[in-house]
Amino acid sequence: MLHCLTPPTELHGQQKGFECTLLPAQFLTTKEKFHGFVDSEWQSLKGENTNKNDKVEETKEASVEEPQAKKLKLEAEEKDKAGKQDGKRLRGQNKSRPHVKPTTYDEKRLCLFSLLQENRECTFGDKCHFHHDIAEYLATKPADIGESCYLYDTFGKCAFGVTCRYAKAHTTPDLKTMENAELIKTYEGRSTVKNSLSKDLQNSLRKRSQTNGYKFLLSAQRLICIHRYVMCREFLGGLKHFFTCLLCDQPQASPEKQPPVKTVGPLTDEDVIKLRPCEKKQVDFQDKLYLAPLTTCGNLPFRRVCKRFGADITCGEMAMCTNLLQGQQSEWALLKRHESEDVFGVQVEGCFPDTMTRVAELINNNTDVDFVDINSGCPIDLVYQKGGGCGLMTRTRKFEQIIKGMNYVLDVPLTVKIRTGVQEKSNIAHKLIPEMKNWGVSMITLHGRSREQRYTKLADWDYISTCSKLASPVPLFGNGDILSYEDAMKARETGVSGIMIARGALIKPWIFTEIKESRHWDISSSERLDVLRDFSNFGLEHWGSDTRGVEKTRTFMLEWLSFMCRYIPVGLLERVPQKINERPPYYMGRNYLESLMASQNVGDWVRISEMLLGPIPKNFNFLPKHKANAYK
Ligand SMILES: Cc1cc2nc3c(=O)[nH]c(=O)nc-3n(C[C@H](O)[C@H](O)[C@H](O)COP(=O)(O)O)c2cc1C
Ligand SMILES: [Zn+2]
Ligand SMILES: [Zn+2]
Repeated sequence: MLHCLTPPTELHGQQKGFECTLLPAQFLTTKEKFHGFVDSEWQSLKGENTNKNDKVEETKEASVEEPQAKKLKLEAEEKDKAGKQDGKRLRGQNKSRPHVKPTTYDEKRLCLFSLLQENRECTFGDKCHFHHDIAEYLATKPADIGESCYLYDTFGKCAFGVTCRYAKAHTTPDLKTMENAELIKTYEGRSTVKNSLSKDLQNSLRKRSQTNGYKFLLSAQRLICIHRYVMCREFLGGLKHFFTCLLCDQPQASPEKQPPVKTVGPLTDEDVIKLRPCEKKQVDFQDKLYLAPLTTCGNLPFRRVCKRFGADITCGEMAMCTNLLQGQQSEWALLKRHESEDVFGVQVEGCFPDTMTRVAELINNNTDVDFVDINSGCPIDLVYQKGGGCGLMTRTRKFEQIIKGMNYVLDVPLTVKIRTGVQEKSNIAHKLIPEMKNWGVSMITLHGRSREQRYTKLADWDYISTCSKLASPVPLFGNGDILSYEDAMKARETGVSGIMIARGALIKPWIFTEIKESRHWDISSSERLDVLRDFSNFGLEHWGSDTRGVEKTRTFMLEWLSFMCRYIPVGLLERVPQKINERPPYYMGRNYLESLMASQNVGDWVRISEMLLGPIPKNFNFLPKHKANAYK
């Protein structure tokens, strides 16, 4: 998995020197008053709950008083300051991000043999460090979070058994795990999530040898073609310089110094792009709303939330080509598709024609996707410096080989996501697009900003419009700054085939409904909490309902909340709609929850998570990757 290193202030696209005319004066407040109010209300709410339920709230008190997250945040801020004094700048949060494995939340886990309740002895004997006595385990287990288990209620069984943090709902007095046979039947033969990496496939990918390892038949065929093609060109042209062989990726001596090699004569593009017998599947992209691929935040549970609100197209988080080829479980998890995702693609990043072609074949043969997208808009240094992401836009020869190679092996459309260019004042997308049409891409998404620009300044929709005309008849999706149905309407008027939404969906996933119904939705804070509740249920289903899964769900919810807190309720606005580059002022909501949700403080996001996922564990820590509260 790759962590986005984009500096958070840039990511949120705030511009300095903005004066607030967004909200009427009666809602505006100061930072001190805002946090004073939110904190005291929280304490008094907690006080009420303590009387009702002493036990649960006790643990809460210990952790909320001084959330670890807050402490860490302060530490990070201090480091940040120190860094600045040194003239250096901390980019993103990743550098000071503590690495704590989620499993460390459980002091001592239950042995799988006991969890399965199959009356089998643990085969590890004395060497096993886990609990084997369920009653003993339960005595040390943290309190249940709620009375009903979403998994048990939905599917009729909960695979987490007594380790589930809602276990009381499905545990008998003699500590057996209950099942609801009728409900189970309704799910028989139905898998709600596709594209998991099987053990067999993982093993064959891990084997490096040609005979035992995974066989990339089409890729091999295709790469030999490119190989010959390059050789012929170089030889026939009599060029006297070094070139890189695509098969072995080694620099070859200039043709002059090598013994003459027999070639099969000049190859034309027609020879190389042999049409494969099977026809490509088609996707109708026209006028669709596309939820952008979003590293970390665009996880499967979040995409389910967006599907419910009307997103048409969804895409997995960017996966790195080499990690997929190595059969890395965490990378393959990014390809998972929920059954509600009816138009679904996966996005890959890489910089070599041979590996990208192989990964396309691998995806083609082992997953169920409607399209494959190349991320050639990725600005991250790590990716760019290797020539991938945005770097592909300037390495047109490699880019061409990647697109043609992948297209050759794919039965589904190949799409490409690009930026305006690398440097701020020199757009190159318009030169590339006519070429990409010839290389065979089925759809192009253009993010209307350059690599250098990141999130500063608005996306250039005039340029997007120009490019969409050049791309026609290949559909072009425009991307950048859409936060309301008006933004979407204006975007559509530029003549693009469709629009892609990224931060707008994180700030308010109901934007898809707003666009489809051409209205501003003054959603209430309790409705928003329901949206978060859906996410936490989907999260428990995806990551698990044991402590580990709960804390994973919480972490991803907190990442999302770092964007969601930027939403200003429509009913409070003096001037509708809110724009994405406007920095929200400190304001009071119409009720406590609305104010809490407007907080840019990570400690308050933790509080919101506690309303849905129970108190944070003692050693909990969290630093947002995309730090929305970096208002300085
Ligand atoms: C948190 C976050 C993660 C992102 N991850 C990806 C990614 O994995 N792949 C990608 O092509 N773009 C990624 N992007 C860029 C967006 O897809 C989109 O191009 C960009 O945010 C501009 O759209 P917007 O103005 O609607 O936010 C990411 C953006 C954000 C904010
Ligand atoms: Zn054991
Ligand atoms: Zn359960």
